[in-house]
Amino acid sequence: MPGAVDLRVEHRPDGLGVGDRSPRLSWRLEGLPHGVEQVAHEIEVARDGDETSRTTGHGSGTSLVDWPGAPLRSRERSHVRVRSTLSDGTTTPWTPPLVVEAGLDPQDWAEPFVSPSTEASADGPRPAHLLRARLDVPAWAVRVRAYVTAHGVHELEVDGERLGDDELAPGWSSFEHRLRYRTIDLDDVVRPGTGSVLGVWLADGWYRGRLGFNGGLWDVYGRDVAVLVQVEAHRADGRVERLPLEWRTAPAPVVATGLYEGETHDARLEQPGWSLPGFDDSAWEVPTTLPRELFTHALEEPPGPPVRVTEVLRPVAVERRPDGRVRLDFGQNVSGRLRVSAAAPRGHVLRLHHAEVLEGDALGVRPLRSATSVDTYVFAGTGEETWTPRFTLHGFRYAELEGWPDGADPSTVEALVVHSAMTRTGWFASSDPLLDRFHENVVWSMRDNFVDLPTDCPQRDERLGWTGDIQVFAPAAAFLHDSTGVLLSWLRDLGAEQRAQGTVRNFHPWLECGFPAEPAAAWGDAAVIVPWTLYERTGDLRILRDHVASMAAWVDQVDALTGGTGLWDSGFQLGDWLDPAAPPTRPGDSATDAHLVATAYHARSAALVARTYELLDEPAQADRCAAIADRARAAFRSTFVSPAGRVVSDTVTALSVAICFDLLDERQLAVAGARLVEKVVESDHRISTGFVGTPLVCDALARTGSPDTAYHLLLQTACPSWLYPVTMGATTVWERWDSMLPDGTINPGEMTSFNHYALGAVVDHLHRVVGGLAPAAPGYRHVLFAPVPGGGLTHASAEHLSPQGMVRSAWRREGDVLHLTVEVPPGARGTVRLPDGSAPVEVGPGTSTHACRVRPAVDDPVAPRRWNVHDPQERQQMIREGVAS
Ligand code: BGC
Repeated sequence: MPGAVDLRVEHRPDGLGVGDRSPRLSWRLEGLPHGVEQVAHEIEVARDGDETSRTTGHGSGTSLVDWPGAPLRSRERSHVRVRSTLSDGTTTPWTPPLVVEAGLDPQDWAEPFVSPSTEASADGPRPAHLLRARLDVPAWAVRVRAYVTAHGVHELEVDGERLGDDELAPGWSSFEHRLRYRTIDLDDVVRPGTGSVLGVWLADGWYRGRLGFNGGLWDVYGRDVAVLVQVEAHRADGRVERLPLEWRTAPAPVVATGLYEGETHDARLEQPGWSLPGFDDSAWEVPTTLPRELFTHALEEPPGPPVRVTEVLRPVAVERRPDGRVRLDFGQNVSGRLRVSAAAPRGHVLRLHHAEVLEGDALGVRPLRSATSVDTYVFAGTGEETWTPRFTLHGFRYAELEGWPDGADPSTVEALVVHSAMTRTGWFASSDPLLDRFHENVVWSMRDNFVDLPTDCPQRDERLGWTGDIQVFAPAAAFLHDSTGVLLSWLRDLGAEQRAQGTVRNFHPWLECGFPAEPAAAWGDAAVIVPWTLYERTGDLRILRDHVASMAAWVDQVDALTGGTGLWDSGFQLGDWLDPAAPPTRPGDSATDAHLVATAYHARSAALVARTYELLDEPAQADRCAAIADRARAAFRSTFVSPAGRVVSDTVTALSVAICFDLLDERQLAVAGARLVEKVVESDHRISTGFVGTPLVCDALARTGSPDTAYHLLLQTACPSWLYPVTMGATTVWERWDSMLPDGTINPGEMTSFNHYALGAVVDHLHRVVGGLAPAAPGYRHVLFAPVPGGGLTHASAEHLSPQGMVRSAWRREGDVLHLTVEVPPGARGTVRLPDGSAPVEVGPGTSTHACRVRPAVDDPVAPRRWNVHDPQERQQMIREGVAS
């Protein structure tokens, strides 16, 4: 039965508390008979207190369709449903109704922040606080809403029960500019005419806790922790009343908590029933009232999903250690925390230690640097006690329980996986289990690092929104999960700080913790490339409209830095960060000239901004930026490329950027492509690139006609390579190619994480080139299916839940025949380009199969061996194999 499904607003997971007053609607069509399309749609909006309206639109569009009718007013609720009229004359059933409800207009905020602590104590993880307020919901209330945010991180309770499942709310944004709040539906939680109690757990979090490396900074955003709760009741006639809240506060049993440090919970200090009616709070204090006007931030509805527990893992191995600890292996490196259940005498202390890896026989905690990541629980002695820390997060696969109570079963300990609750949208599979595990590792590194904003790593004293990391990873992120909402929120921080501080920083939200504040290429270019990528993958032109000022400001700033010459050869650069040739202690010492990278990125970003202005119909600006791009391209060629096509530096990264960023002419391209193969062979098909070259090299090889060489790199298992960590048992992508050395010791560099997604950006090549599924028009309205088989793979597939619906490309090789099955969603079309070079075939929505002759998998070339002529044994082998005499 054909149906319209998955109705949603903007890039949000739900419709409650939307910021946009005319939110766009999207849905997908499923089960359509072959050749049948949507020709029209009908949107029904039932607005509270208003007549229901129905609006018809024409065409096949199902993504980001304009809001019909007048904008929603502050707090206004509507029930929206959609149905589609199909080209076969039938009409789908209505989608289930979606509640679309506006958040508050700025002037509707009336409650102040209430603060249990306005002066932070000494540096160090600090205690959390409890706040409680009676909530008397009048009998006339037909709808009750709470609007909640905090300086700090909070968890809510109503009448003794946890409210909602958001973790670490309201997350981290650039708090001096923007603070996100949540709209919470209390209708099913409170009973009109009865008294309830609202309870809040509140801790420092990002607002006041330690942030950043080199010792970090405390109290970055303020010296208070505070919560803002506004509860409103709606009368049947539409009038709204704010319900009075009289707050009381007391210390929480969480006696110390920090995102990096871990949490200490003394259960002896719990006050049973504290968030229930009838609890005696006469000894509690009255918190300080902080008028909202004191703060500079705008209150904003979140454009993306909250952080949540998305999965619960059980240990795959439990080991009693000679020192009495119990070691748990969860089989997967995650971002999260433990949940323990045990009984122990009052005052018994349990400590939970976390680490990503083992080194020798011990937990490898050195990479955590100063993020100690130890949680402590002091038992109340009340029987079986269940606990999970509330306000901390760790990156770990292993944990050790110190003081695990006798008789308790350690295999019941759970790891709660915590990150932004994004929908999975992308999959890849092939006939190579190592490649598949690598892909899985990338998916995990994305999950573990999308904790409200895109971070570098989840374990050490950083977890920052490094721009370079997400700049290279954005295409992969957009494929694997519906990450648009998370990234749009982060881009707002980037834009706000760029406006205020005059440049794009190397991470956002920015902290003055000793890292150079100057603009750097590939990092600052996130301002252009992330919004561009989101546009390309979602088809949402509004993303470009909203961010073009930030995109252009970056390009103009760099243009000024080049003195208008286009050559960016000055100032601070991170270059091809983490080139394996760089010494462990100097990760920026790449073999590739950092100014070559900078100038290449300048050309690329300027070209993208020119294209953006074209799309936004601003030809004068488009011409202006195209001229900047031309200057940068010309400067790149005259400075770094010989007329024949040699590139200076003569490195894989330099050649790859020149090829992928369209910086060469046709003749030079061929020479550069050939040289690239030589360089890759010279490096024995091992990785010789850092953050900049790694995402590009396979594309550069495929583009210049050497996909087999790309496969040799992809499938390499010797270090450094993508698969080396997989052979070492990695379950996430490592920061360094050799975060763990072949002998099992941890890289001596002081920056060694086992969970960084940046080097996993190559999965975008797996999706587009190996799997053969690439967007040919924004939002996958047109899909290019052009798989390039090789590497001995007998099958591969890529699947993506695009804005239009599921897109699939799956091929298998049987002898010398390649069978390709592609699926195009309704409203889209596809071009199939088979690897035999035959004429492309246009396909419409539905599934189609294609076949052509190909090289059998068994005949795929193996990587040519690079002989070490100076090694006598290798020399002998060369003679035996007839390649030397
Ligand atoms: C981070 C990186 C980041 C880099 C730039 C590191 O400490 O973890 O991923 O991009 O610094 O300097």
